[in-house]
Amino acid sequence: MVFIQGSNYLQFLAKFGVGGAHPGGINLSKEIWKAESIQPTSHLLDVGCGTGQTAAFLASHYAANVTGIDINPIMIEKARHRMQKARLPVNIIQGSIEETSLPNEAFDFVLAESVLAFVDKQRALQEIFRLLKQGGRLVAIEFTIPTLLSSQLTDDIQQFYGFDALLTKKDWVALLQQTGFQDIRIQKNKTISTKPEFDVSKHIESELYDVMDQHISMNEKYENILDYRIYSCSK
Ligand SMILES: C[S@@+](CC[C@H](N)C(=O)[O-])C[C@H]1O[C@@H](n2cnc3c(N)ncnc32)[C@H](O)[C@@H]1O
Repeated sequence: MVFIQGSNYLQFLAKFGVGGAHPGGINLSKEIWKAESIQPTSHLLDVGCGTGQTAAFLASHYAANVTGIDINPIMIEKARHRMQKARLPVNIIQGSIEETSLPNEAFDFVLAESVLAFVDKQRALQEIFRLLKQGGRLVAIEFTIPTLLSSQLTDDIQQFYGFDALLTKKDWVALLQQTGFQDIRIQKNKTISTKPEFDVSKHIESELYDVMDQHISMNEKYENILDYRIYSCSK
């Protein structure tokens, strides 16, 4: 298989323009954000915003100030196109959440929907902490393994998704605590799901169809292992 850019899995998501590329999809996002007190004056940052489905929802539903950041130029193009079409004033910027040029304490809320698992977690969390106002909230929907896995299984999953490590609930909580986050809560909503939406690019490398097939079979094979939790915490 040809290595395209970053993880092939992320390139597959970008080229197929998968919106709601996190467990539970946009319906879970809507449910999660109901519990947070977002005001029209709130500033929100969607980290790894992808095609911008959640960012668009937050901007239209709460009329809040929303910024999205993503490293992938195809995702950025699709997110910008979405905002233009919907006439939403969402600022979409290209960059890595491991290091941004955004100012200190600029945001009341940061959301990361299936993103932190793919990055240098320590650097990204420190950056998110810097960007949050005092008392600001981080909500992350993140891949979480139920227990330590065999090294072969770990390699299989890490290689395919491009993760540098597989974290348990305990590992995530330790990382959040080390960064300085407080009031850490962990949830799982088993009942909510959403069909993903697609904004497919004109040219798709044939290898990416194989990635899609592999992703589907990994999910079937490792149904109980490819699990997630919702982490919410305050600065
Ligand atoms: C699984 S997708 C989730 C996308 C979106 N949050 C959603 O739920 O639809 C992960 C996203 O993280 C982005 N990403 C990966 N590494 C990143 C980084 N270092 N900084 C910002 N975004 C990153 C990818 O380009 C991709 O859009």
